[in-house]
Amino acid sequence: MARYSICVVPGDGTGPEVVAEAVKVLDAAASRFGFEYETEYLDVGGERYLRSGETLTDADLETMRRSDAILFGAIGHPDVKPGILEQEVLLRIRRELDQYVNLRPVKLYPGVASPIAGVRPEDVDFVVVRENSEGLYVGKGSFTDKGTGNEIAIQESVNTRKGVERCIRYAFELASRRERKHVTLCGKTNVLTYAWDLWSRVFTEVAAEYPEVGTAYAHVDATCLWMVEDPARFDVIVTDNMFGDIITDLAAAIQGGMGIASGANLNPEGVSMFEPIGGTAPGWEGTGGINPLAAIGAMGMMLDELGETEAGSAVEKAVGLVAGSLPSLRAGQMGMTTKEVGDRVVEVVTRAG
Ligand code: IPM
Ligand code: MG
Repeated sequence: MARYSICVVPGDGTGPEVVAEAVKVLDAAASRFGFEYETEYLDVGGERYLRSGETLTDADLETMRRSDAILFGAIGHPDVKPGILEQEVLLRIRRELDQYVNLRPVKLYPGVASPIAGVRPEDVDFVVVRENSEGLYVGKGSFTDKGTGNEIAIQESVNTRKGVERCIRYAFELASRRERKHVTLCGKTNVLTYAWDLWSRVFTEVAAEYPEVGTAYAHVDATCLWMVEDPARFDVIVTDNMFGDIITDLAAAIQGGMGIASGANLNPEGVSMFEPIGGTAPGWEGTGGINPLAAIGAMGMMLDELGETEAGSAVEKAVGLVAGSLPSLRAGQMGMTTKEVGDRVVEVVTRAG
């Protein structure tokens, strides 16, 4: 029987509450689908930082490297200056473990209300492949004459041929396994003429290797418009780190909100990390009102990536079913508690198949 070692980082805010539900469903999936797992919890986040000044230690990274996958809740603390934990924990893990794809499936499940009037579930079923290691996120730049009236701040976007190619190739591989087999490159070729020149050239080259996959190009601003006006045109969207960050929050909104938005930070050749993308949800901690479906969905993506595809799709289906049965996916408006939502997913997974 396969046995997986899962590194669990509950983190801050509502992270621990939603991760607890994800682990509960993991347990049910293990019994139902016949695999074993062990967990190793890491105390990473704002509380430890305030206590010890530590963000992510070498030992933490070592534990992560040794594991088969990482399940991540959220980080961010009201008493810690914004940016510290994001940079030194989340972005550092992505970088150190070379998790170069940020994968965000976007599905409107039947019964879930979207803010877009008249949109149908069959219109919203796409995946964003966001480059997760380069672009504006490398932290390169400079100040000149800081603090003076002549100050200049420069923030550089770094796009390497290798980094761009592996991301685009991942998108085409993914599209070739999907029913619609279509990739849209989302960029800004009309203004950002260096980065998107490289991206466009690599996109065309890689596309030639996948004749069965259709292609399109959309500027990032137009992508936002179409995501709202005509989301059915998208199957796989591939884009850079910054644009991917922005369009995936919009994508989360059209699928019913952060309560259902799961993401994966993938190193297909290494250790990947799975997270709900909604963050710490300040104010909801301890209320029992936070929606755990995004964290449970992220755990389902983890099972898929580990090769437990039957279990992964059962979890995804259960998340969809339960989502559609709730009056709202928003925190405090689910008509049941965090734990009750988790229990309902467990029930569905247990009788799956
Ligand atoms: C995300 C988040 C992070 C990002 C933040 C928390 C640094 O918004 O995963 O989309 O910008 O990548
Ligand atoms: Mg984001």
